[in-house]
Amino acid sequence: LLDDAASLLFDHSTFNGHPRFFGYITAPAAPIGVLGDLLASAVNANVGGWALSPMASEIERQTVRWIAELIGFPASCGGLLASGGNMANIVCGFAARTARLGPDLRENGLRALSASPVVYVSEETHTWIDKAADLWGIGTRAVRRIPTDAEGRMVAAALRKAITRDLAEGLAPFLVVGNAGTVSTGAVDPLPEIAAICRERGLWFHVDGAYGAPAAGLPNAPADLKGLSEADSIAVDPHKWLYAPLEAGCALVRDPETLLAAFSYRPSYYRFEGDPEDPPINYFEWGLQNSRGFRALKVWLGLRHVGRAGARRMIADDIDLASELYRQVERHPRLEARTRQLSVVTFRYVPEDLRGSDAQEAYLDELNDAILSRSQREGEIFLSNAVVNGRFLLRACIVNFRTARADVEAVPDIVAKVGDAVDRELRPRAEST
Ligand SMILES: Cc1ncc(COP(=O)(O)O)c(C=O)c1O
Repeated sequence: LLDDAASLLFDHSTFNGHPRFFGYITAPAAPIGVLGDLLASAVNANVGGWALSPMASEIERQTVRWIAELIGFPASCGGLLASGGNMANIVCGFAARTARLGPDLRENGLRALSASPVVYVSEETHTWIDKAADLWGIGTRAVRRIPTDAEGRMVAAALRKAITRDLAEGLAPFLVVGNAGTVSTGAVDPLPEIAAICRERGLWFHVDGAYGAPAAGLPNAPADLKGLSEADSIAVDPHKWLYAPLEAGCALVRDPETLLAAFSYRPSYYRFEGDPEDPPINYFEWGLQNSRGFRALKVWLGLRHVGRAGARRMIADDIDLASELYRQVERHPRLEARTRQLSVVTFRYVPEDLRGSDAQEAYLDELNDAILSRSQREGEIFLSNAVVNGRFLLRACIVNFRTARADVEAVPDIVAKVGDAVDRELRPRAEST
């Protein structure tokens, strides 16, 4: 059966561990994490209650602390592992909702509020916010998408204005989400400025660092990224830039009591004892899940394997490779480099005779869309896409400890070769319509 399953998977999978896989923000699995998953499944600890998983619960607690320390967030924070970025962000938002809209909300629901709650995100915030707004009960119309600048960063002045307007209209702002690495281009919002606005207005400041938060631990990280240390809560994805096998997200909350206030219920059928002076963590009281797998083990092993210095080096290497890719693309006569932030590069193929011709933008969108599909099908490299300022761009995101300089150097010629072929096929059709 295992041979059968292995050949089905080996013959029909998209190998995101391949050194030339640059799509989305999908990383290879650290081998020690793969073995960690096997060990975790064999022990099968239920990390919902400490009594059911004493060592696993303690390892999760230590993993959360290590992640916080790595990114520069207080080690005294509370937190837990979740399935990924979506769930980690949603869990943090629940803590924000109870903390800022009041504990009565849990009993009476939103209808008991005298003002409608609103939240602020940037135009570039990932789609988890839509699901979250639905789940939190505030609805997607309560999400204010604040405009971004040319680099995809939230415009702080526009945020300030939007909050002032909503307060004047009698609404109840309670949460601002800053990005530490947007999904499309890796943009980092001006986190210290957003933190200051949140302090002024008494709003909860959450950072979506699912992708970029680990880069805040680099010694040369920009001040905007390091500003995540001022957040009330942060989502970080160990299954992205910390190379844990899927699934592993992590929700961090500055004040651990806010997680308990949002999630703790104590039914009579759970009689978990502990020292009242040093109560054990029963993770079912800290998040949405009841029975929980031992996700932390693969993350804990991965961090112990490479250490803080190793984790930082792998992140710095990816950023250097992305910079190198940007330079290589800039030099190619038929490619146009657009952005490089963290380890994300965007660019597009432009035939030499169409350079500088604004009239051809619609054709270039169509052409690059077709190049993306063709290159994915041919399988020499795997890119994804970003739409930036209305234009369809090719996107490479390097979160891969297997990617080497030669892999990055190969990208421009592969894209140009596919681009030449697709342009030859599409152009006559486009010109005849
Ligand atoms: C910034 C950001 N937030 C949230 C998510 C969602 O994370 P996940 O796919 O782990 O749920 C992603 C995924 O790429 C992301 O880039």
